[in-house]
Amino acid sequence: MKLIVAGATGLLGTEIIRQSLRIPEITEVVALARKPVHLDEGSDISKIKSVIIRDYGEYSDDVKAEFAGADACIWTVAITPFRIKKFDFAEVKRVCQDCTKIGFEAMYQAGPARPFRFVYLSADGTLRDPTKKPAIWGDYQVMRCNTELMVLKFPTEHEGVDVCIAQPGVIANSTTWSRALVANIFRVVNLVGRPFPNVHRSELAAAALSQAVNGIEKETLLNADLVRIGVKALKSQKTIQTS
Ligand SMILES: NC(=O)c1ccc[n+]([C@@H]2O[C@H](COP(=O)([O-])OP(=O)(O)OC[C@H]3O[C@@H](n4cnc5c(N)ncnc54)[C@H](OP(=O)(O)O)[C@@H]3O)[C@@H](O)[C@H]2O)c1
Repeated sequence: MKLIVAGATGLLGTEIIRQSLRIPEITEVVALARKPVHLDEGSDISKIKSVIIRDYGEYSDDVKAEFAGADACIWTVAITPFRIKKFDFAEVKRVCQDCTKIGFEAMYQAGPARPFRFVYLSADGTLRDPTKKPAIWGDYQVMRCNTELMVLKFPTEHEGVDVCIAQPGVIANSTTWSRALVANIFRVVNLVGRPFPNVHRSELAAAALSQAVNGIEKETLLNADLVRIGVKALKSQKTIQTS
């Protein structure tokens, strides 16, 4: 199968690309990003096609040609809440919402396989009622709510499309010392349940890949679903590697 990973150089996108290399069903990966993807030395990168664009809202005919025949896309592009202060809100909305629509349309125009699975990364706590404005990051949360509602309409407006909205909690990982500290705190807290929704980056990447490869379990996956699916998918990836 051919998979497009949008946001391939991001925190989650990098891990999705890394894991896609060991999933035999995936034969071709379009790593869509604003800069080249860096992979671990020694990786077999023969199935990765790095496609570099200037902006997630602009797709030339050459780029669209790279999308043709894709079976699935995992869309990870967004400005995350802690970074929104660095941008005008109009730019935050453009990157998070408008680019999602433009990117999806470019893939659809390119002629994807049927079904074409579109796995969209959102966040835990995103409401489905845009009239409800949360006290924290209110405008941002309403915009992400509207983006989810927009993505949920893709299948009714485009024949042969299945969508999945993933709503992870905090992504725990060790890419920086502060993230490693947070990940370790979660590791302890997770021994007594997950009072603060969180998911390890490897689990989330595995869960998103599992939906793209094996089909969508349900339209909206909450943090607990993503942990459950991700843990199972990681075990099966390890079995494949050692068998
Ligand atoms: N990180 C978390 O703890 C967390 C928790 C819950 C949900 N999520 C959601 O999961 C998804 C992926 O998160 P992540 O942590 O992987 O995000 P990230 O690394 O900050 O960014 C994801 C992608 O978005 C692109 N992007 C970021 N800012 C941009 C800008 N100003 N203009 C154009 N592109 C931009 C990045 O492109 P470049 O690589 O070129 O910069 C990157 O590829 C997002 O939807 C996020 O809201 C994240």
